[in-house]
Amino acid sequence: MSNEEGKRRAARAAMRYVENGMVVGVGTGSTVRHFIDALAERRHDIEGTVSSSEQSTRLLKEHGIPVLDLNATGPLPLYVDGADECDPNGCLIKGGGAALTREKIIAAASKRFVCIIDPGKKVDVLGRFPLPIEVIPMARSHVARALVELGGQPVWRDGVTTDNGNWILDVHNLHITDPVSLERELNQITGIVTVGLFARRRADIVLTGETA
Ligand code: 5RP
Repeated sequence: MSNEEGKRRAARAAMRYVENGMVVGVGTGSTVRHFIDALAERRHDIEGTVSSSEQSTRLLKEHGIPVLDLNATGPLPLYVDGADECDPNGCLIKGGGAALTREKIIAAASKRFVCIIDPGKKVDVLGRFPLPIEVIPMARSHVARALVELGGQPVWRDGVTTDNGNWILDVHNLHITDPVSLERELNQITGIVTVGLFARRRADIVLTGETA
């Protein structure tokens, strides 16, 4: 099975968690694109969506799916999103598409987080995929120095500005054996907006193409 087929199958499998009348949180990326295609077939059954990026908002609107404001909806029953890596406990690295901040907000506001990935994203230990971190632009060098002290090798994703007007550092060389405590530690560094480690609020359900 190709990676693309794995993504498509995982995305289709997530539809079983979508119930009539729901407001669905929608992530970002190529796997989520398949989910949006599937959701479009049920657009008249759901109340609407909350989107995690300008990219997903555009796709949702193109499909005629309503996009709502999280401040107006309140807590969501379901969030569906992809990931860059997933460990056996459902802890994730996310942010390859630079949408990590809004993704983390929606994940936090959702009762159930269903993660859709192709099987190649499963790892025993997180860190092979460089950890994305969103930073306030003026703090880029300050944060990078702090990350080096922690043993990481930050690389500025030059030319990328997030939907929130911030920048991304991709941190190489991390072997993340305790994702919860690393997430907590990184959250203490001034200038970091969001760490792409989704450990404290991790996935509740992980669907791969295999399980579909
Ligand atoms: C975007 C993300 C994506 O979920 C992650 O990058 C996976 O993307 P794809 O489904 O294209 O492989 O975190 O910020």
